[in-house]
Amino acid sequence: MAKLNVPEKSITLTEPAEIKAYVEPYSMWFEHWDVDSRLPSPAVSNEEILELFKPEIELLSKRGGFVTADVINVSPETPGLDAMLAKFCVEHTHSEDEVRFVISGRGIFHINPVNAPVFSVEMEAGDLINVPEGTRHWFNLCQEKSIKTIRLFQDSTGWAPHYLEDAIDKQYSPLCFNSVG
Ligand SMILES: [Fe+2]
Repeated sequence: MAKLNVPEKSITLTEPAEIKAYVEPYSMWFEHWDVDSRLPSPAVSNEEILELFKPEIELLSKRGGFVTADVINVSPETPGLDAMLAKFCVEHTHSEDEVRFVISGRGIFHINPVNAPVFSVEMEAGDLINVPEGTRHWFNLCQEKSIKTIRLFQDSTGWAPHYLEDAIDKQYSPLCFNSVG
């Protein structure tokens, strides 16, 4: 289950409804869906995942104007993993929404809102997040360096990070809080 942390205010939220309410003023979505009972086995293919979650993907696509969906699956065995992670662990924005629905594994988003303290959202299986276009953020995998997520895109022609000149990501620990399990 997700965990939201606001280091400067010593706030920690673990209830999905509380996390949803906290991120809403920043036009973000947070939801938790039941995943474990939906997956026939952990070894299910990316195509099967997209088929299994088709109703949810269609609903979200209508809500956010997304045109394509895919599944990204990374682990310590993924070639070039460190180079891939290095692109996203530095504060950046995108010119389209970043939507992630976690199927398995863990990762942590840090969000740097305008006029509000930085907060992190640790994501686990079943957690859905939408980081809207233009939102300053960065992302790290948790200690196991494994995650499988559905991604939704508004623009099939590209999705690239725009880096901030005075990135503040180094001031925050990229470590996840929850124990594995
Ligand atoms: Fe990003």
